[in-house]
Amino acid sequence: MPDLLIRDVPKDIHTWIEKERKNKVMSKQEFLLSLLENSYKRENGPTLFDQPQVVRRSEGLPFTFVDLFAGIGGMRLGLERAGGQCKFSCEIDRFSQKTYRAWFGEVPAGDINEIQFGDIPDCDILAAGFPCQPFSIAGVSKKKSLGHAHGFKCATQGTLFFTLATIIENKRPPVLLLENVKNLRSHNKKQTWKVIRSTLEELGYTVFDEIIDAANYVPQHRERIVIVCFDKKMFGKSPPFQFPKPPKDSMPKFRDILESSPDKKYTLTDHLWKYLQDYAAKHKAKGNGFGFGLTKLDGVSRTLSARYYKDGSEVLIPQRRKNPRRLTPREAARLMGFPDELPIVVSDTQAYKQFGNAVVPGVIEVVAKEVVNVLCWQVQENAGCLLKRA
Ligand SMILES: C[S@@+](CC[C@H](N)C(=O)[O-])C[C@H]1O[C@@H](n2cnc3c(N)ncnc32)[C@H](O)[C@@H]1O
Repeated sequence: MPDLLIRDVPKDIHTWIEKERKNKVMSKQEFLLSLLENSYKRENGPTLFDQPQVVRRSEGLPFTFVDLFAGIGGMRLGLERAGGQCKFSCEIDRFSQKTYRAWFGEVPAGDINEIQFGDIPDCDILAAGFPCQPFSIAGVSKKKSLGHAHGFKCATQGTLFFTLATIIENKRPPVLLLENVKNLRSHNKKQTWKVIRSTLEELGYTVFDEIIDAANYVPQHRERIVIVCFDKKMFGKSPPFQFPKPPKDSMPKFRDILESSPDKKYTLTDHLWKYLQDYAAKHKAKGNGFGFGLTKLDGVSRTLSARYYKDGSEVLIPQRRKNPRRLTPREAARLMGFPDELPIVVSDTQAYKQFGNAVVPGVIEVVAKEVVNVLCWQVQENAGCLLKRA
């Protein structure tokens, strides 16, 4: 017989349960079971099971989430647009914290390694764009041969993913939404992804992963791996999740994100422009395609990276009778899909770093809406209650 734990019981109902069960000299478990049994057996009148609330897909469902490795909150914006309410955030970089505070009115907690499990509230979705670090597989084999514990605890020891996995193990969020660079799959001879995937499975989650190109939502080619996991105890082995299909409407164009009169400081100096051209020519001669990216105004740009502040070479804007220019910070924000209402409160350098590190909120929004469909399905399956099997 499965154990059922009802989550997020409002305080007044909780107080009532406590009072009633004490009056009846019953344990909480006995009292709740008797309530359910009475309700189930009763033939007349409203019962808990008469009218299951059928939640239709289009109506959505409010849910809660925590935002770990939050950066400037790209995940948060996407999740909020899908109906989510953020309960906790964590980000170590003080400049990103500054932006996060200006945008969401809260300063995220700092180093994730310092956070106690008790500080992280229960939530429906744990979101994390964790940094990608190599795992020492040699270390794993050695420890295995010495008969030490293996599995994720050993394979990921000392990495931020280990910290994340330990939080997941202790908090057991029903859904995980993780994001990383595309090459997570090929990183460290595919070993990194192998360890991450098997860790999530070892923790009891069904894992879905997909490379999504943000070019369907913003005028930028930006491929990221999105990982969505469902707790098997709650959703079974085959939750009906599917990644969103790219929208059919016309793709956004690069020219749409440009400012009309950018400051002239963003135009490349003759010296830098010559350097970039010489560098590209040298690499072309060697057969490498490596060089600057002069963006077609009716197309999409290359991927904005966190090092854009250095020379801006990957996304340059052609200008008539002038050297090309780089993006302004506001254009970088738009290229990532962050709305103009969000103020830029840090230096240009920090802003480029933050946008280059971020996730495109529009991508997270469409993925989160698919997650919400699965949450709705789960609620229907459980006759209108969001139940967590303990
Ligand atoms: C890839 S970025 C995530 C970006 C985020 N998804 C967004 O949209 O802005 C990874 C973030 O993890 C943060 N980070 C790295 N080490 C950390 C730690 N020990 N504790 C908390 N955050 C950390 C970095 O500062 C960085 O902002």
